[in-house]
Amino acid sequence: MKKKIKHGWYCKVCGQFKSNEKFSGKGRSQHICKDCQRQIQEEKLTKMQVLKMEKAQTYEQLVPQIASLIKDVDNHVGALANVSALLHSSFLHYFWCGFYIVKGDVLELGPFQGEVACYTIKKGRGVCGKAWEDKQTVVVPNVLQFPGHIACSSKSRSEIVVPVFKGEDMIAVIDVDSKGYSAFDDIDKEWLEKIAKLISPLFDTKDTPLKEI
Ligand code: SME
Repeated sequence: MKKKIKHGWYCKVCGQFKSNEKFSGKGRSQHICKDCQRQIQEEKLTKMQVLKMEKAQTYEQLVPQIASLIKDVDNHVGALANVSALLHSSFLHYFWCGFYIVKGDVLELGPFQGEVACYTIKKGRGVCGKAWEDKQTVVVPNVLQFPGHIACSSKSRSEIVVPVFKGEDMIAVIDVDSKGYSAFDDIDKEWLEKIAKLISPLFDTKDTPLKEI
């Protein structure tokens, strides 16, 4: 049976998820595996560009899919569950993907895909609480170095948390975890922020965050 890699890095040239040992010290800082390091510079750069373009294209294609998934759906819990399922199944670097919703003075676990997660997060606590406090996206390349990170799964190595606004009010966050270090970049940030705007109508008000089924 193939040994499952718990955590490591996504090589920015071949896109594969590989264990720490498959990267040299320099390769780790550049996120390029030993195999790809041997390629000529031009080839590496081209492949890196292609991977980035493919990721942006996938996000671009997801936007109309998400729009049609949530259109005229009264069951907002189900709609958010479907959005997390679609995102989770579209990207190799997504390990956990879901929503935490503002309810009173905590963020409460909403629909998600992935391993079991904590139910509530206080403002300022963990990556989600930090995004809530600062009202802005937080990208964490290495969660082990993030003070107060809440480790719902010991497999998580990097994370992005994107706020969802309704007018001036921040009403939820999109939380995505990866098993790889430094898995999220500006492309993830840009598109997840667009997706956050798109799904905002699924949330009602601060008092009744999601429409009842
Ligand atoms: N890691 C998050 C907690 C939620 S889980 O990742 C699902 C945090 O530090 O806020």
